[in-house]
Amino acid sequence: MSQRKTDHIKMAALSAPSTSNSDERFYYEPLLAAHPNKISPHSFLGKEMKFPLWISSMTGGSVEANKINHLLAEASAEFGLGMGLGSCRSLLYSDEFFDDFNLRPIIGTALPFYANLGIAQIEQMIENGEVDKIHELIFKLQADGLFVHVNPTQEWLQPEGDRFKRPAIETIQELIDIVGDQYKLIVKEVGQGIGPESLSQLLKLKIDGIELGAFGGTNFASIEIMRNNGRIANFMYPLATIGHNADEMIAMINDICDDHEVNCKQVIVSGGIRNFLDGYYYSEKTNLPAVYGMAGVMLQHAMSSKEDLFDFIEAEKQGYMYASSFLKVR
Ligand SMILES: Cc1cc2nc3c(=O)[nH]c(=O)nc-3n(C[C@H](O)[C@H](O)[C@H](O)COP(=O)(O)O)c2cc1C
Repeated sequence: MSQRKTDHIKMAALSAPSTSNSDERFYYEPLLAAHPNKISPHSFLGKEMKFPLWISSMTGGSVEANKINHLLAEASAEFGLGMGLGSCRSLLYSDEFFDDFNLRPIIGTALPFYANLGIAQIEQMIENGEVDKIHELIFKLQADGLFVHVNPTQEWLQPEGDRFKRPAIETIQELIDIVGDQYKLIVKEVGQGIGPESLSQLLKLKIDGIELGAFGGTNFASIEIMRNNGRIANFMYPLATIGHNADEMIAMINDICDDHEVNCKQVIVSGGIRNFLDGYYYSEKTNLPAVYGMAGVMLQHAMSSKEDLFDFIEAEKQGYMYASSFLKVR
């Protein structure tokens, strides 16, 4: 007690914020709730997450990626988080990297776990009559469904990038017809977000979910220009400014839902989400069931150490519990 009083006296002067602006997204309501002691589970397309944080699609196919994926899967199991794999393209034709992606035995069967392919591969497999390979992939990984990433900006700038022969929306419609009710389909961008007309057309299709992959965090236009490091590529940086952030995309989704009946049942708000306050704010703002997703930030902690990753997620959990009890979105 006396130590605490001494601490307070020493730290009081240091504690004042540098600005008097508080986070204006929230009303702070200290009188209306008890301290929380648990967090309510969140349903996600027929499964249940213990905490509404999604581990967004990242990696696989190298020694380092194997380690990171296994660590992320352990975190998913420990905290009850859903997880999306990075592109599983390498598994379509070879099992060399299967262990990198074979995370269901770690995660367990109760939590949502999804495979991932790019729209370019899907277009190609439909064209070649090889869609059975997608079903085999989902079966082999014991995944609940598939993320389809739509990333024309990244592919355009990638030195070895694919070219789409058709608009992605047509390929997605065909995939929906082929997959039917066999497994779930979620469509995502990878960090540039999705504009209003594309969102509107996407939300009219019979997809199960969308992940925003919004602008404001990891930026694959920049990454590919850096990787390219060529004379022409260096003039392409203006493309790294193109996209839609989570605020914009959520407003668009809400407008579309006001105007039309939509089939989409789940949103993962991702792209530039920094912490539980962003996550809580955006999940509350979205008029469809929503959880929040992180890729880049999660990766940094996973690369540091297991302890760091687990501490980070524990803090997210405690922060989210606090927010849902004492903060109201304005
Ligand atoms: C290292 C890394 C690899 C990624 N690979 C994939 C991928 O294979 N497939 C995919 O759909 N998204 C991929 N993403 C994109 C993320 O899923 C996410 O949409 C994007 O990074 C924005 O979230 P963030 O700002 O929290 O990083 C990757 C992201 C990172 C950081």
